[in-house]
Amino acid sequence: MAPVDWQEAWKAGITPWDAGASPPALRGLLDRDFVPAGRVLVPGCGTGYDLATLARPDREVVGIDLSENARAAFLDAHSDLPGIIVYEVTDFFTYESAAGFDFVWDYTFFCALDPDQRAAWSDTMKRLVKPGAVLATLLFPFEDPITGTEGPPWPINTGLVRGFVEDAFEELEAADIEQTHPGREGRERLVLWRRRQQP
Ligand SMILES: C[S@@+](CC[C@H](N)C(=O)[O-])C[C@H]1O[C@@H](n2cnc3c(N)ncnc32)[C@H](O)[C@@H]1O
Repeated sequence: MAPVDWQEAWKAGITPWDAGASPPALRGLLDRDFVPAGRVLVPGCGTGYDLATLARPDREVVGIDLSENARAAFLDAHSDLPGIIVYEVTDFFTYESAAGFDFVWDYTFFCALDPDQRAAWSDTMKRLVKPGAVLATLLFPFEDPITGTEGPPWPINTGLVRGFVEDAFEELEAADIEQTHPGREGRERLVLWRRRQQP
């Protein structure tokens, strides 16, 4: 399958992944007060619902996407959000942040990447997540065992992601998610990974 041209998809308005809101699992993490203050990153944020959901006066929320159209859609829909919101139109894999991030939220980003980009995803996460901070992955479409062979979205599961992060992240918890966007029932799993302190 040819890699997706994300910028063209956005320009053409072909965005079937866009559920129009943040997933309930993210609200669940906020209700638990699990997401810290400080610097928060949402790679492949698309229309940026999750940026708005995460916005708080004591946070700097950074969204990254390849598409200027996605950024424009975000700006059209949101103004007056609390805290600092930065929407960078750039490539996640070359994005630099000397300060690093206190929390990273990946929903429908890892699964959207070509399988041969997964090692680079892992290297970039290791570079951007501060020691002791959490990478939260809401895995969709979750399959265990994986039987689907087509993507995106590529079917994924905890073991698959673990293989890419376990050298640098400790698994904190994994939970099946009951409340999902319509049509995604039974296919989301929330897995939280803590970046190990560097030696
Ligand atoms: C499946 S969409 C999910 C968007 C959003 N997370 C959502 O749930 O609506 C994947 C997004 O990742 C973006 N993307 C793909 N590769 C990227 C890269 N290398 N750097 C930054 N964004 C990328 C695409 O433009 C697209 O908006």
